[in-house]
Amino acid sequence: MIVAIDGPAAAGKGTLSRLLAEEMNLAWLETGSLYRAVALRVLRDGSDPGDSRAAVGAAGHLDAGDLSDPELRREDVGQAASRVAAISEVRAALIGFQRRFAHRPPGKVRGAVLDGRDIGTVVCPDADHKIFVTATPEARARRRFLQLRESGTPVDERQVLAATVERDARDTERSASPLTPAEDAHLLDTTNLSIDAAFATLTAYISGSSD
Ligand code: DC
Repeated sequence: MIVAIDGPAAAGKGTLSRLLAEEMNLAWLETGSLYRAVALRVLRDGSDPGDSRAAVGAAGHLDAGDLSDPELRREDVGQAASRVAAISEVRAALIGFQRRFAHRPPGKVRGAVLDGRDIGTVVCPDADHKIFVTATPEARARRRFLQLRESGTPVDERQVLAATVERDARDTERSASPLTPAEDAHLLDTTNLSIDAAFATLTAYISGSSD
């Protein structure tokens, strides 16, 4: 079974995917971590994330250790990830890994859940279930702001909102695999939903009891 969960930053994809993986015994791949790992390598080399030669070089040299680096979660790495992700050669270098993970997931599992921006449209258009998780920019910025504050990072909520809107625009307006719902995706708006309520809706979509 392949489940594709797409949507903008901080809509709740990661939490929902993790819960789904646990509940249904699926392997989980957060595909954003691949773009973040490319971005972190580029930043550490002192290159610009918009420099396609540097980004394509980094994409060709990723290893498993890169994907578990706690620095991947940094705000500036998220922004840089969104810039390397606009380079079509970077996307081409990462698609094989994602498809292999979806079709031959590691471990004794029933299948895979992949979350990202283009899983239902480009990486796994043949996915058994596609969900597009969204929420207003204000709600997503608020969640991100609270997370950052809790982790001890001093932030201004207006700045988080501006960064969210900027990243949405870049991810949606790029020509290479832009963020957009697949035609056959279920839309799940989490603006006014608790995680429990959103997860119940997600599992209802997957079990086919809600259309
Ligand atoms: O999901 P995330 O915030 O960790 O993703 C970071 C960036 O990576 C995001 O702004 C756009 C890019 N990305 C992408 O283009 N395609 C994906 N499948 C996943 C992430």
